Amino acid sequence: MRKTMVAGNWKMFKTAGEAAILVQNLEDVARECSGDAETVVAPPFTALHSVSTVLALDHPPIKLAAQDMFWEEEGAYTGEVAPRMLTDLGVAYVIVGHSERRQYFGESDEVVNRKARAVFAHAMTPILCCGETLETREADRTADFIAGQIRAGLAGITEADATDLVIAYEPIWAIGTGKTATPEMAEEVCAHIRALVAEVFDDVVAERVRILYGGSVKPENAALFFAQPDIDGALVGGAALTAEAFAPIIKAARA
Ligand code: PGA
Repeated sequence: MRKTMVAGNWKMFKTAGEAAILVQNLEDVARECSGDAETVVAPPFTALHSVSTVLALDHPPIKLAAQDMFWEEEGAYTGEVAPRMLTDLGVAYVIVGHSERRQYFGESDEVVNRKARAVFAHAMTPILCCGETLETREADRTADFIAGQIRAGLAGITEADATDLVIAYEPIWAIGTGKTATPEMAEEVCAHIRALVAEVFDDVVAERVRILYGGSVKPENAALFFAQPDIDGALVGGAALTAEAFAPIIKAARA
C-alpha cells in the first residue's frame, strides 16, 4: 500500500516569514487528511529554518523537504548547502534533478545521481525528478529518454534504500505552463517508470516506490491523476503557493 504524497515545491517564492505563515495555514488540512495523504512542503533554503520551527512547535503531520542539496559533507563550495545542514533542520526529503535545475543550472544525470545517493547516505529520501521536453515527446522518444534518466538516477542506489524512493514524473512542457498531461498520458509514463524500477531492482521494490506526477496540478485535476494506478501523488508548483489552492489538492488524495 503506497500512501499518496502531496508535495508543494515553493521554488524561489516566499520569504522566511511568508513560508511560516503558509505552513501554519496548511496544518488543519494536513491533519484532516493525514490518513490518506502525506503532506510535504519544500520551501527555499532561506525559509527551511522558520518552517522547521513551526513544525517543531505545532507538530502537524507535514514533512519538510529541501529543493536541492550538494553531496559533499562540507568545504569550500560557495553557495552550496550540505546534507548535515538539512538533517539538522529536520528535513526528510530532498528534491533532486528538478528540470529547472537540469535546464538552468546544467545538472547532468551524473550530478543528479550523486545527489540522490548522498541524500540516502544521510538518512533522508530523494524525490528524484525526470521528464521530457516537448521536442522529445513530439519525436516519440519519451520512453527512451525517461529510461535513460531513471537508469542513470538509480545507479549505485541499494535495494534497501530504493524501497523508500520517491520519483516525480514532470513533463517539462507541462510545468508552469497551464498545460497538463492527460491523466492517461501521465499514467503511461508512470507505469513505464515502475517497470524500469522493477528491471533495475525487482517487483517488490517497484511496488513500494512512490511515483508522483507534476506539471500544472490544480485543485480541479488532482483527483484525476490520483485515481491512476501508478500515480501515487503530486509534486505541485504554482498551486502550492497558497493554502486556498493547495488544501483542495491535499483533500483530493482522500480515498
Ligand atoms: P507547476 O510546477 O505545478 O507550477 O507546473 C510543478 C513543478 O515544477 O514541480
